[in-house]
Amino acid sequence: MPSITVEPCTFALFGALGDLALRKLFPALYHLDGADLLHGDTRIIALAREEGTEQQHLAFISAELRRYVGNELNEAVAERFLARLTYLHVDFLKAEDYVALAEMAGSTQRMIAYFATPAAVYGAICENLANVGLAENTRVVLEKPIGSDLESSRKVNDAVAQFFPENRTYRIDHYLGKETVQNLIALRFANSLFETQWNQNYISHVEITVAEKVGIEGRWGYFDKAGQLRDMIQNHLLQLLCLIAMDPPADLSADSIRDEKVKVLKALAPISPEGLTTQVVRGQYIAGHSEGKSVPGYLEEPNSNTQSDTETFVALRADIRNWRWAGVPFYLRTGKRMPQKLSQIVIHFKEPSHYIFAPEQRLQISNKLIIRLQPDEGISLRVMTKEQGLDKGMQLRSGPLQLNFSDTWRSARIPDAYERLLLEVMNGNQNLFVRKDEIEAAWKWCDQLIAGWKKSGDAPKPYAAGSWGPMSSIALITRDGRSWYGDI
Ligand code: BG6
Repeated sequence: MPSITVEPCTFALFGALGDLALRKLFPALYHLDGADLLHGDTRIIALAREEGTEQQHLAFISAELRRYVGNELNEAVAERFLARLTYLHVDFLKAEDYVALAEMAGSTQRMIAYFATPAAVYGAICENLANVGLAENTRVVLEKPIGSDLESSRKVNDAVAQFFPENRTYRIDHYLGKETVQNLIALRFANSLFETQWNQNYISHVEITVAEKVGIEGRWGYFDKAGQLRDMIQNHLLQLLCLIAMDPPADLSADSIRDEKVKVLKALAPISPEGLTTQVVRGQYIAGHSEGKSVPGYLEEPNSNTQSDTETFVALRADIRNWRWAGVPFYLRTGKRMPQKLSQIVIHFKEPSHYIFAPEQRLQISNKLIIRLQPDEGISLRVMTKEQGLDKGMQLRSGPLQLNFSDTWRSARIPDAYERLLLEVMNGNQNLFVRKDEIEAAWKWCDQLIAGWKKSGDAPKPYAAGSWGPMSSIALITRDGRSWYGDI
């Protein structure tokens, strides 16, 4: 658990009028204030390129805060929070614009500089901060995506590293701030019950699904250059895979955990050209239905390029080359315009080694550990028990041993991932942030897939909006004699 922040800071938010800042960052800071986790002297400087008066911009931020926090907004907290805010017009690339920031920030408080801007300007912002003497006492927070491949991500990281050492660089992957994701560490390493079973002797395979109901939501310009592999697999899904697959770290320090995650990324088997057709499926949604309404296909979304072959869905089988996981496939699947928003990990345990029950029940008999990230955060272990009743004999049934976080701790609100992450930056704890070598190892693995796709020239497979993806994503797992858990 992080300790309560006692240190005051100056929080400089670059890109303060952008979607991420308005939708996630200001609400997260507001909630931290509401939970008394911001020091009384902590100030927030909203920096953006937009012209207009400070008053206009602050009024806009205030209105957006109310919109995104919604009914749970507490007026007294909102007032206290908004009083911390100032607005500064800055052209991120102009050195002279940073003089005013330096004057505003002063030199006594630690600064946290959060870059909610395109990664192409991270280097310039760092240089300009350093020029006005703001590098010494500052932690920088870098939003994803950091680059679009290994080479471009190295460029961004190197540009930042000229002015900020790794121990003051915080790379965001907001999945690491999700309550259930952190619970993975507790579940695995605070319960000897699981750790002794956590290997190829007892686990047959692992599924990681991150499905979204939404489509592109006006982000076509960004998304079309990225695609689902870069947008979701390279970061969120590979981070989840690492937390499931890593060896126990020596302690909870940021580097111990990150050392173990890097080992997993480096052990991922490259996918061969043949594997690209049998182990990986790319899809793109076509028109279909969502929540009972007709919705357009990816190529019919506003501002779309009708020739695009960017994928909005990826399913793949990843193999980890080490003793713990030899022969245990990790099936990853993520897509836009799926039937529901669902992020879950399912660990499938092997069947008992000697089977003594009725032959027709054989298929049901493996235990499953289901870790639900969203919605309905919780953990459920499906175990086999006997049907009750004198007439039932030794008829088996699979039932859940369940831990639903919001039911179990009803009084506690589940914080948004960004609240946790911002608090950790303020506390100087890098556990939940991605180290440079981690991000590079993840890019390296994804780059070979992207290169393979480019070479093959194959178009993504169509799937109807509101479905679970192309049929071949089902074949991908059934070919191994398995099926995606819970698909209907
Ligand atoms: C972001 C992606 O990193 O994660 C988005 O860029 C995606 O495309 C989002 O929608 C999903 O996050 P969450 O927390 O809603 O699952």
